[in-house]
Amino acid sequence: MSGLFEPIELGGLTLRNRIVMAPMTRSRACPGDVPPDFAAQYYGARAAAGLIVTEGVQPSRDGKGYCRTPGIYSADQIAGWRRVTAAVHAAGGCIVLQLMHCGRIASHYNKAPGARTVAPSAIRARGKMFTDAAGLVDFDPPEALTPAEVVAVISEYQHAARAAQLAGFDGVELHGASGYLPMQFLSTGTNQRSDAYGGSLAARVRFTVETLEALCDVWDADRVGLRICPGNPFNDIEDANPAETYRALLAALSPIGLAYVHVIRSPDAQLDAFALTRDHFDGPLIANDGFDLVSGTAAVRDGIANAISYARAFISNPDLVARFANGWPLAPFERRTLYTSGPQGYTSYPAYEAPVQVSSQDSHVA
Ligand SMILES: Cc1cc2nc3c(=O)[nH]c(=O)nc-3n(C[C@H](O)[C@H](O)[C@H](O)COP(=O)(O)O)c2cc1C
Repeated sequence: MSGLFEPIELGGLTLRNRIVMAPMTRSRACPGDVPPDFAAQYYGARAAAGLIVTEGVQPSRDGKGYCRTPGIYSADQIAGWRRVTAAVHAAGGCIVLQLMHCGRIASHYNKAPGARTVAPSAIRARGKMFTDAAGLVDFDPPEALTPAEVVAVISEYQHAARAAQLAGFDGVELHGASGYLPMQFLSTGTNQRSDAYGGSLAARVRFTVETLEALCDVWDADRVGLRICPGNPFNDIEDANPAETYRALLAALSPIGLAYVHVIRSPDAQLDAFALTRDHFDGPLIANDGFDLVSGTAAVRDGIANAISYARAFISNPDLVARFANGWPLAPFERRTLYTSGPQGYTSYPAYEAPVQVSSQDSHVA
């Protein structure tokens, strides 16, 4: 049998196969940034994955960037997520919550009144984002966090990690990719501070390391993961030397003993992010981006990664694991409903139904 279907332990997480559902923002949250009832059905239907990483979830009101993303800091949000974890666990699955603080990739139109848009430095991202209230708008100009506020943001992450325990998750993943707050601290273009959190390489790495340490005060370190994408310019990120940045980051977090590092393939052809992580991080690696059954199987077989995560394939194939196992065809997804509210395009994709074989005996029945 293919290596993708073999169980594995990623730190303290026990996976029944190496097919991971990658995090996907789906913008279905209800008022109060509470996951909808039908999120339990969505995640529960995908629980045959060895591990589910939830959509990005904001640890605080300030951490929200996009419209209708869920949070994990209020009692109602915790109750909503409890329904999700119960559904996944009832189906024998394993699920971690992805903590996503968007930092400067935000619009006040998407936030609660009074919530702030903050970043390492007061540098506005070039580009636009969608809002329900005003359509496509420029990103907010961010406020630079003071040193005391940086510490406060780290404790927001820590409170959210506690809330994730109350909600019944198996662990948490820090979103350190896609140009959000941790990557804004890591990258030279967005971090122009000259205090303990910027200026030198060690100082740029500090925010991500201290945030992970704060999460590991709440959870055992072997239930905490980190997602990275070295060299990705998405969301107006520039870094003078991504290989150097991520070597330093991985070396600094190796002693922590994380469950895994979840690595998105670098769009920079010169930078092999999987090899860089294997060389500088002494723990399990989940690889992502553009894998299918064949390439995922080969990557596990060849030791490139311990597990493979799939995002888009899970949107329209809730039973992706069974489809891979049986060689069944994959259904395409509809782009239009990726981020629309309601169940359509979310829980509306059925599991595969094999065509009914009409036997020669049946065909004689009148
Ligand atoms: C609709 C959608 C939403 C996404 N939201 C997130 C997110 O919240 N957090 C994250 O880390 N990545 C997010 N991603 C990136 C995916 O996790 C993944 O890295 C990317 O789709 C490539 O994997 P794939 O080729 O298997 O689709 C999103 C991708 C899609 C298609």
